[in-house]
Amino acid sequence: MTTETREQIVPKLRSIPMFADLPSEDLDTLAGMVQYRQLPKGAFVITQNERGSSMFLLVSGRVKVSLASPDGKELALNYLEAPAHFGEMSLVDAEPRSADVIAVTEVEVLALDAKDLSEAIKLQPRLALALIATLSRRLRHTIARLEDLAFHDATHRIMRVLLNVATASYEARGVPVIAGLTHYEIATLAGTSRETASRIISSLAKDGVIATKGRRIVVDLLRLRDRLEAE
Ligand code: CMP
Repeated sequence: MTTETREQIVPKLRSIPMFADLPSEDLDTLAGMVQYRQLPKGAFVITQNERGSSMFLLVSGRVKVSLASPDGKELALNYLEAPAHFGEMSLVDAEPRSADVIAVTEVEVLALDAKDLSEAIKLQPRLALALIATLSRRLRHTIARLEDLAFHDATHRIMRVLLNVATASYEARGVPVIAGLTHYEIATLAGTSRETASRIISSLAKDGVIATKGRRIVVDLLRLRDRLEAE
């Protein structure tokens, strides 16, 4: 764990849109409530089934939220990129952690303990709304995954993952590009094998629905959406 002063934590809090417009003195109070941690690639920020009473604000880097089966298979639930938050579920319902959260790059997080949550919400009421909005978004996402697993084959599921990730990139950066996800990672998001994911990605590239450039995949959003709807 790295010790950072309040002065060093304040700009990190300010980089999170939800806190950006808080007055400096409130940011300073909030900085006194959170603990700064820097973790290397591969580190477990949260381990499934453990008890935990902190939630985390991700201020830089990317994490993977995933489940591991006893025989070592992995199902990635989601990838979160800063600014984001996670670990709020155990904090709200006092149940064990629902999933592993693993750093896929070096990450910086700010941990907020359950005992400080209501004080933090008093300083920034939007935090409460953000927590509810995230839970609702994750539930919708999980319903869509369940629907895909129950009703659709691997091709459809891979196309859905490509469409979701590329659409998020288009909304955030104006380009429908998938960067930094390996075929294995795409496969674990779709609940299929790496080999199947690679075969489907090659076939979509051959049909011109996507274009692969090194480790980047550029997606023709309209054509991919048409393909999904035609299935
Ligand atoms: P918690 O259960 O405390 O610890 C694991 C965290 O992973 C959980 O809180 C959520 O913040 C996060 N999480 C669980 N499921 C999902 C999901 N489907 N998508 C994104 N994040 C999730």
